[in-house]
Amino acid sequence: MRLIVTGGAGFIGSSFVRLALSEGHAVTVLDALTYCGNLANLDAVKDHAAYRFVKGEIGDKALWPKLLAEPCDAVVNFAAESHVDRSILDASPFVLTNVVGTQVILDALRAVHAAQPQRALRFLQVSTDEVYGSADDRKPFTEQTPLKPNSPYAASKAAADLLVRAYHHTFGLDTVITRCSNNYGPYQFPEKLIPLFTTNLFEGKPVPVYGDGMQIRDWIHCDDHSRGVLAALERGKSGEVYNLGGGNACENLRITRLLLQYTGRDDTFIRYVQDRPGHDRVYLIDHTKATRELGWSPRVAFDTGLAETVAWYRAHESWWREIKSGAYLTYYARQYGAR
Ligand code: NAD
Ligand code: TYD
Repeated sequence: MRLIVTGGAGFIGSSFVRLALSEGHAVTVLDALTYCGNLANLDAVKDHAAYRFVKGEIGDKALWPKLLAEPCDAVVNFAAESHVDRSILDASPFVLTNVVGTQVILDALRAVHAAQPQRALRFLQVSTDEVYGSADDRKPFTEQTPLKPNSPYAASKAAADLLVRAYHHTFGLDTVITRCSNNYGPYQFPEKLIPLFTTNLFEGKPVPVYGDGMQIRDWIHCDDHSRGVLAALERGKSGEVYNLGGGNACENLRITRLLLQYTGRDDTFIRYVQDRPGHDRVYLIDHTKATRELGWSPRVAFDTGLAETVAWYRAHESWWREIKSGAYLTYYARQYGAR
């Protein structure tokens, strides 16, 4: 397939780009290189003959007709504002990118579909289990679970999902949505739990555990998520939603203790801090449908994957140090001009 991958310079998008190229697909990455987009994440593929990078905003209406005029079989939308804490500080970039940006892509696809109804052009929306809200009753989310997003981030992702559904229903666009649980792995921006805690512990700094640390997330390796997205792209039914999960439900405090162990630190590095407002207590996901219909299931065992991830951050100190110092943003400003 010839793919346009938005947000391909981010954490999971870059994992997907590496996978898609290794499976013989051609990839054009469209990425705005916001604070978390990083071309270093794509170093491994930068000279690949079937890879191309375009710097741009998904919400740029003028860009899409040009991109879609070229041969293209699918658009895979990873681009997003993705951090819950940032959405609590300011929801506007979340609405602009996650909702309006998605709608701009859908409108561009709608125009192509109206002009060339026979052209095969699939849209895959990369969504999250956070759209379902908190599983306080401990019942894993299925694709039938009602959407009850609690954070501005989750609300913006749910709004995008509903637009995707509506454009499939009203305009006949070929769409698929995947909803995945919490990811971990190499190249994750060190504002999220696992890379923040790992790199803080390397630096000899404490780790801020929100509230009592007993919140539960289901963790999946980003490469398993990418394989799920590719399976949904290749074998998913149009108009359907597929949940993806790692089957590793775990309290934040348990992860914190594993990270303390892997970095050779002790409990004195834990700081219990004020809880996140509106903090979802439990995410649990049922991915039976993806296993049954796509033949997909996660492969990476959590304890091994986490240990390998910590080893990756240990071996790639310059990557996260540049990010934590903000130096990489200066590099982009020099290369591309300030945003
Ligand atoms: P990330 O924050 O690491 O990367 C996001 C990427 O999108 C960056 O490269 C950024 O530059 C780009 N981007 C942001 N706004 C853009 C815009 N307006 N136009 C073009 N590019 C833009 O995010 P991630 O953790 O890799 O998440 C990727 C996707 O997966 C998101 O849609 C997110 O909602 C979803 N998701 C993430 C998780 C998780 O645990 N991280 C879990 C489930 C789903
Ligand atoms: P995060 O990685 O931000 O993902 P999400 O909020 O999308 O689940 O957070 C994962 C869990 O870790 C969540 O319950 C919040 C908690 N957390 C902390 O306790 N301390 C922190 O500094 C961060 C960033 C998260």
